[in-house]
Formats: sequence, C-alpha cells, structure tokens
Amino acid sequence: PTPSQALGIFLDIDKLLFLFFIPSPDNKVVFCTGGAGTICSAQVRALVHLGANACIVGRNVEKTERMAKDIATARPGAKVIGIGAVDVRKFDTLQAAVERCVKELGGIDFVIAGAAGNFLASINQLSVNAFKSVMDIDVLGSYNTLKATIPYLTESAAKHRVDPKSLRQSQQGTGGRIIFVSATIHYTGIPFQTHVSVAKAGVDALSNNVALEFGPLGVTSNVIAPGPIANTEGVERLVPSTEKEKATKKQPLGRFGSVRDIADATVYLFSEAGSYVNGQTLVVDGASWRISSSS
Ligand code: HXC
Repeated sequence: PTPSQALGIFLDIDKLLFLFFIPSPDNKVVFCTGGAGTICSAQVRALVHLGANACIVGRNVEKTERMAKDIATARPGAKVIGIGAVDVRKFDTLQAAVERCVKELGGIDFVIAGAAGNFLASINQLSVNAFKSVMDIDVLGSYNTLKATIPYLTESAAKHRVDPKSLRQSQQGTGGRIIFVSATIHYTGIPFQTHVSVAKAGVDALSNNVALEFGPLGVTSNVIAPGPIANTEGVERLVPSTEKEKATKKQPLGRFGSVRDIADATVYLFSEAGSYVNGQTLVVDGASWRISSSS
C-alpha cells in the first residue's frame, strides 16, 4: 500500500479520538436531560464509546431505562444509568436524579441540557398554558439542570484546571463543561414556532451568562444549535412527510444533518481541543438557517 493507504489502515478515526481526547481510564461522567431522545442519546452514546460513564434522565421511565441499557452497549464495561419520572420543570425530581448519579458514578464532569418541548402552532392557536409549557421545559428546565449540577461541575473543573505552562488541562483530561442544546429558528423567526423561538433565545442567553459567571471557576458553557437533523422527533414534528424531499434538496449541503454530526460536535466541545471555547454557539446545520429567511 501507499503511505497514505497504510496510514488509513492503522489510524482508525474513533481510536484517534479515543487516544487524544478522552483517555479510557478516566471514567468521566456525563449527565444528560432528554437523554432518551434521538439527538441526546447519540451525544451520550459517543461519549460512552470514548470512555465516559453516563446518567440519562427523562419523563418516561420505560423509555429512559431502555435507552440507558442500549447506550451501555457502546463500550464493554460502561456504566449507564437511566432515571425516569424526572421532569426538568420540577427541580426536586432533577436534584434527586443528580444525587443518585453522583452516588453511583462518583461525580459529574459533563452536562448536556437537552430536554425540550415542541409542536407547531400559530400565535392564535397557542394558549397561554401552551406557551408556558414550552418556556418551562426549555428555559426553566435548562436553568434547573444547571442549578442542580453546577456544584459538581465546579468540583470537576477544579480537578481539571488548565496548566498555565502547558496550556493543557490535567493528565486526567477535561471536566466541568456544560452544553445546552438549542436551535437556530430564533435567528430569523419562523411562523408557528414563536414559543420555541422565544424559549431557545432564553437558553442561549442562559449559556452566555454561565460562561461568564462560572468561567473563572474553570467551567465552560456552550450551546450546540442543531439544524434539521434527519430521523428526529423535531424534524418529524416540523417537516410534513410530503415536504421532506423538497426540503432536503433545498439545504446548502443537499442533505439534512445526522445525529452523528451533533455527537461529533459534542465530543469536540468536551475534548481538550475545546478547552478555550466558552460562551459560544456551535451551529451544526450545514448553513441551513442562512437560507431559511429567503425560502
Ligand atoms: C397547540 C398544544 C399542542 C399543539 C400541546 N398543546 N400540543 N397547543 N398545538 N400541537 C398545549 C396543550 O393544549 C396545553 O395547553 C399545553 O400545550 C400543555 O400541554 P400538555 O400536553 O398538558 O403538556 P405536557 O404533557 O407537559 O407536554 C408538553 C408539550 C409536549 C411540549 C406540549 O409536546 C411534550 O411533552 N413534548 C416533549 C417532547 C418534544 O416536544 N420533543 C420535540 C423536541 S424537538 P392548554 O391550554 O390546553 O392547557 C425540539 C426541536 C426544537 O425541541 C428546534 C426546532 C427547529
């Protein structure tokens, strides 16, 4: 084989990530709300594959426990707990789950605030309670997630301070990082999504403030803003099946995103490569939102 073919044989990309980003003995712990959903489960699965243990929480007991078992198959020996009956709108349920996670897995190094609510409705159709429900799940839920996990994120960040000489985090890798899963719809505004647009703008603002307030303690806070991701509840709810082909062709990259695209962005932000990224929004949408206002 040519040198580049030989390199291709020996350097498997997953192994590269494994070696450079999240060393296996680490046993890093990721806590994720909405973890049984399509996007968040892919984010957690990637981290577990690379060496982390995880706790996912959700409202539905059976769905959450089943997904935890499934994610655990990503790596032999992985510990993944699924805790159901957790509603991010109810702080007590969330706090109890966080405490169980810490007790069983030893701490929390990474948080993904992914729980969200959505449906299509015009402002005229939206009841006050419908608007409030989405605000409560997305904004209050993200705040509650932060509030319940921040003591553990701060603790993890203290263990993983960046060495000013090498400008790298400690030998044990990275820790003390939170990602909020947001969207792009509020950049332009979009009919029938007023409730979600307002909520996601709030989520972005929350992350920006966390980045400034907890940055001095070594905690980083960033947003991932997915575009249309194929085979997700979001796309199922928002794009009618008869419109899918047309909508796909309209995308700047000629395709919808995949959950792998979001998982890869997550690995990056939690890796050493993302150490100096704080208070940012990583838009993973193939430039989709840039054309949405003109379509
Ligand atoms: C108008 C609706 C509605 C609809 C519910 N409501 N569905 N109004 N159109 N299609 C109203 C109800 O009538 C009620 O108001 C209020 O919303 C609360 O509804 P409940 O069913 O009682 O609330 P709850 O059980 O808490 O459910 C919350 C929910 C639901 C958001 C309404 O859809 C949900 O649980 N979703 C979670 C899963 C989810 O949405 N995943 C998609 C995430 S995708 P009244 O006045 O009657 O009491 C995503 C992507 C975002 O977030 C980015 C997009 C690009």
